[in-house]
Amino acid sequence: MYVGGAKNSALKLMAASLLAPGRSKIHNVPDILDVDVMGQLLERLGCTVAIAHPQDADPTRGLISGTVTIDVPQELKWEAPYELVRRLRASIAVLGPLVARCHRASVALPGGDAIGSRGLDMHMRGLQELGARVWIEHGQVVADVPDRFAGANLWLDFPSVGATENLLMAAVLAEGHTVIDNAAREPEIVDLCQMLISMGARIDGISTSTLVIEGVSSLSPVEHTTVTDRIVAGTWAFAPAIAGGTVTVEGGVHAHLDLVLDKLAASGAEVTDHATGFTVSSDKQLKAFDVVTLPFPGFPTDLQPFALALASISEGTAMITENVFEARFMFAQELARLGADLRTDGHHAVVRGRRELSGAPVVAHDIRAGAALVLAGLAAQGTTTVAESQHIDRGYPYFAEVLRSLGADVERMNIL
Ligand code: UD1
Repeated sequence: MYVGGAKNSALKLMAASLLAPGRSKIHNVPDILDVDVMGQLLERLGCTVAIAHPQDADPTRGLISGTVTIDVPQELKWEAPYELVRRLRASIAVLGPLVARCHRASVALPGGDAIGSRGLDMHMRGLQELGARVWIEHGQVVADVPDRFAGANLWLDFPSVGATENLLMAAVLAEGHTVIDNAAREPEIVDLCQMLISMGARIDGISTSTLVIEGVSSLSPVEHTTVTDRIVAGTWAFAPAIAGGTVTVEGGVHAHLDLVLDKLAASGAEVTDHATGFTVSSDKQLKAFDVVTLPFPGFPTDLQPFALALASISEGTAMITENVFEARFMFAQELARLGADLRTDGHHAVVRGRRELSGAPVVAHDIRAGAALVLAGLAAQGTTTVAESQHIDRGYPYFAEVLRSLGADVERMNIL
């Protein structure tokens, strides 16, 4: 199967296009609802957005990703309304670019997945340190700066992906020099840096935890190709480990998943690299392994539900520690409905593996939990029905089609 562009990158690249008036094109954009919602948000801000996906999309042959063309006007509107923002967390990424371009912005407090409190304190404090006034009023984050942002030395309490992105997009148009210390360094941040550099930004320290930015007075529109989705690639690496069989992940980048693939290999799965991706195979019960989620290059929180699902049918006991999103273990209750033997306490889960799960009706509370429940359902005896499966479609284009092409017995049901 083929992996397309990363959701968590494409949405931020779309927001970054706001930094330069003119036409930007972003290629390798996944065909998911969140991209449409971000497109609608950019239109509300005054842009013209065209999203083109291949007519003959075929996930088995790699024709899955499209192009978004964004025409950004000289004068942007600066209010991002609740009805769009609440539908995706990533919409907060327009805050930095809007204040940089319009010197003010009002962005509704975002929604997104039910996986934790997801504060904005680091976004707000960083923008304040760059010279903005930032406050919350009637459910909106409101910010203004008298003129351009002023470069500053910033230190994040935690390498937050969203805060790093917002502050980076503010700093590229600031007057002077900015340092973002303890910055996130996920491949999606590297991708954003690369697009900003092609737009004319001056950024050093890419892929390290210290980003150094020399502000410029304007940027130019660009064409950019989105990085491959490492979380989708990681999901398909877990699929044969959980449900058995062999999956070749075309476009999967091993270096983005070093720790994950090492753990799968150490547990007894076979992992082989080839020029354009990697293959994972498993035909036996794997050995349980512990997981501690951490910012990149640590074990990604977005793959934690798959580790939990795998541990539930592995040989031995695993301790899973969630350090990034406190509410991610809501998924554990659903997995227990399939017969998993697990206990959670705060941000730890202890899972005692058993040979088999048994199918049951379960509910998907977020994108990754939904996909992990489907994979666990494939490993379970009998039928599993995953309700609220629309969450899965927000992160995985053609999820059921890809699974069927791999031989899984999966059906999408429309229940009203
Ligand atoms: C992004 C990803 C998400 C991924 C996460 C961590 C998108 C759209 N989503 O989310 O899939 O799981 O990175 O890799 O790209 N926090 C604060 N204050 C802040 C900012 C964050 O307390 O100002 C907390 C959050 O509540 C969370 C933790 O920091 O507990 C990490 O959040 P962050 O890295 O910012 O994740 P997102 O950008 O929201």
